[in-house]
Amino acid sequence: MTEPAFTPRVFSGIQPSGGLTLGNYLGALKRFVTMQDEGSHETVYCMVDLHAITVWQDPETLRRNTRELCAGFIASGVDPEKSILFNQSAVPEHAQLAWIFNCVARMGWMGRMTQWKDKAGKNAENASLGLFGYPALMAADILVYHATHVPVGEDQKQHLELTRDIAAKFNHDYKVDFFPITEPVIEGAATRVMSLRDGSKKMSKSDPSDASRINMTDDADAIARKIRKAKTDPEPLPDSAEGLADRPEARNLVNIYASLSEKTVDQVMAEVAGQQFGLFKPMLADLAVEKLAPISTEMARLMEDQAEIDKILARGAERAREITAPILAKAYEIVGMVGAEG
Ligand code: TYM
Repeated sequence: MTEPAFTPRVFSGIQPSGGLTLGNYLGALKRFVTMQDEGSHETVYCMVDLHAITVWQDPETLRRNTRELCAGFIASGVDPEKSILFNQSAVPEHAQLAWIFNCVARMGWMGRMTQWKDKAGKNAENASLGLFGYPALMAADILVYHATHVPVGEDQKQHLELTRDIAAKFNHDYKVDFFPITEPVIEGAATRVMSLRDGSKKMSKSDPSDASRINMTDDADAIARKIRKAKTDPEPLPDSAEGLADRPEARNLVNIYASLSEKTVDQVMAEVAGQQFGLFKPMLADLAVEKLAPISTEMARLMEDQAEIDKILARGAERAREITAPILAKAYEIVGMVGAEG
């Protein structure tokens, strides 16, 4: 058997640009914990504060959100001993490699990103340059670790394809085999959790309606109320997963149930076939409260000791730099920077 060229390493990040949602938890965090506990990869998880400031952030709120996100990672099961857990700005190699990638990536590639088009909208002239270059920083986040696997929700797929394009172009232009072609890990029943008010929209921290999402800081009452009020259609649940195809709200609730209960959608359908929402929603609410309320309680407890959170982040950044400093130095050498020759 040939040795793998790159150490199996997982990297992923979440923006501290508002509270964590159930979408972040099911689409990303829950899988971060599984990959950490499998133990077959080194796992590196990051609060991407430099990405957050591509749109305006109030400085005090950003600081608070970063610490709260750290509490959210830990309360969800990310163990700062097993995984490397830190905030992006504390590891300068991310931004340094991003500059090189700004020079590798093409304007056309960036302009095609649907997230850029959605976020900048018709007002692109007024969007920050950082928002346009966002995916180059994301590629740097991943590749400055030579990460091989990146667990994310469905909405990040295009950015990960761009990361592969950037790695391939760098390797090609400089005639090296230096950056790995990273594998996205987009798996499970809830890779795209939808709004509880509109099954055609992604559940998002930026939705003006708080009822559209479950926040990871919501208490048991709020979680149960939002699920009871979630939009549905008048039909009972179908007999099989195929029957959910044109029923986005029903499908979303079933997907959430499947993901929270660690079952497949087919297994859930076998249990709930033909059920009215009047029965299914309380079942889902109970399950969601059982799984999520302890996380919000633990987050609140961790937030009481911010010095401890800051210590964890500082230690994580130190460990991260042991990986990133030599990789960045090598990248500088490859592109021809004087002083970086090994
Ligand atoms: P962000 O902060 O928007 O979201 C963090 C993670 O949560 C996932 N997610 C969802 N999954 C399922 N359903 C949803 N409704 C939902 N909403 C969010 C996202 O897919 C993501 O995995 N650009 C990234 C952050 C980032 C990053 C990286 C990720 C920066 N650098 C390097 C991976 C690797 C972002 O804005 O995610």
